[in-house]
Amino acid sequence: MYSDKVMDHFMNPRNVGKIEDANGIGEVGNSKCGDIMKIYLKVENNIIEDIKFQTFGCGAAIATSSIATEMVKGKTIDEALKLTNKAVVDALGGLPSNKVHCSVLAEQALKAAIEDYKKNNQREAVSG
Ligand code: FES
Repeated sequence: MYSDKVMDHFMNPRNVGKIEDANGIGEVGNSKCGDIMKIYLKVENNIIEDIKFQTFGCGAAIATSSIATEMVKGKTIDEALKLTNKAVVDALGGLPSNKVHCSVLAEQALKAAIEDYKKNNQREAVSG
């Protein structure tokens, strides 16, 4: 049912955890399955220097969060905003159709974290 890549990222998820001094945090959930995904970003000079995630959810949700963090680490926030759930699914070698929404969660959590970073950044710019 799952590709080797999905199993690998589920069994050995990359970038799990929390960034204490994160400057962008995004949390999203899916009301149907109840799964929750939280992404922490440490952005410096527009680059995602560090990214971690905490996912309370199914194996596909964990695998998609894991690979999505790998795909955007070291990228600019504009590049990261272009990450689609389709790219995440492709990178995992596909997902069963009833698990595609798990990859949508990863895209949404990342975007929410970037939006949060942008908000924090604007506030800093205003307050000097
Ligand atoms: Fe809902 Fe996977 S079953 S995120």
